[in-house]
Amino acid sequence: KKISIIGVPSDYGQQRRGVDMGPSAMRYAGAIERLEKLGYDVVDEGNVSVRKLEKSKRNDHKLLNLEEVLDVSEQLAKKVDEVIEQGRFPVILGGDHSISIGSIAGIRKHYQNLGVIWFDAHTDINTPETTPSGNIHGMPLAINLGLGDERLINIAKGAPFLKFENVVIIGARSIDEGERELIKNKKIKIFTMHEIDRMGMSKVIEETVAYLKARQVDGVHISIDLDALDPIYTPGVGTPVPGGITYRESHLAMEMLEEAKIITSCEFVEVNPILDERNKTADTAVALMGSLLGEKLV
Ligand code: ARG
Ligand code: MN
Ligand code: MN
Ligand code: MN
Repeated sequence: KKISIIGVPSDYGQQRRGVDMGPSAMRYAGAIERLEKLGYDVVDEGNVSVRKLEKSKRNDHKLLNLEEVLDVSEQLAKKVDEVIEQGRFPVILGGDHSISIGSIAGIRKHYQNLGVIWFDAHTDINTPETTPSGNIHGMPLAINLGLGDERLINIAKGAPFLKFENVVIIGARSIDEGERELIKNKKIKIFTMHEIDRMGMSKVIEETVAYLKARQVDGVHISIDLDALDPIYTPGVGTPVPGGITYRESHLAMEMLEEAKIITSCEFVEVNPILDERNKTADTAVALMGSLLGEKLV
């Protein structure tokens, strides 16, 4: 398999600085060497260019840094599209979770029935109407489903939107009121921490794989927000929520997804080295990357 690493040093989807250094932190933690060691042909495509902004501004839709997020998303969608066109497997390094607007837009151009696994403490399915913060990193899942700001949802013009029934959320424990209603109304498949506790991660992933296969998806993207894990393991994130997935549970999830051979692209987001402890969060991200892409103990 040929892998392309794409860095997206953007922090425009939220209001804490530092998450723009996520790609550097994950490269420093050995992402490229780790994948090369597994025998892949790895190309580091470098970073999408993110123009620097003097001050945050809100527009009348209550979306913070909308112009900047649009710019990054358009560039990233184009880059991801090119990489897939070349037959390469994209590994995208964020940046805050707003980068999924562009990454999944680019991916959607290549699949008619894409599945998405959203591994996150949050559900990121807010719209301009429901957002409590105005932060666009709380909206990327909604945008790829076709809900939200006109310009953001139209980045992948012509590509089908994600289908509600092709999404599986894993690890959620902080869900806003409007998000909860949408998840219920659209019957989105979700394994909150409650289900992970009751069923165990093994069963959660078995059901996730069976569910997506039954949907006859033609590809599966996994979006990994490092705040899905408990902040004990990943303290370097902007919106930590206690009571998360353990180190071992998260590795088991990656290993089982690798065994299932369903993943066609992945991304690691919300790594903020400024808030971190000695690059622990980037180290964990890279270890998960290894498991997801086939590392074995024996
Ligand atoms: N639900 C909250 C919001 O809309 C928090 C979102 C956090 N998202 C993230 N990708 N860390 O603002
Ligand atoms: Mn294409
Ligand atoms: Mn999150
Ligand atoms: Mn997120």
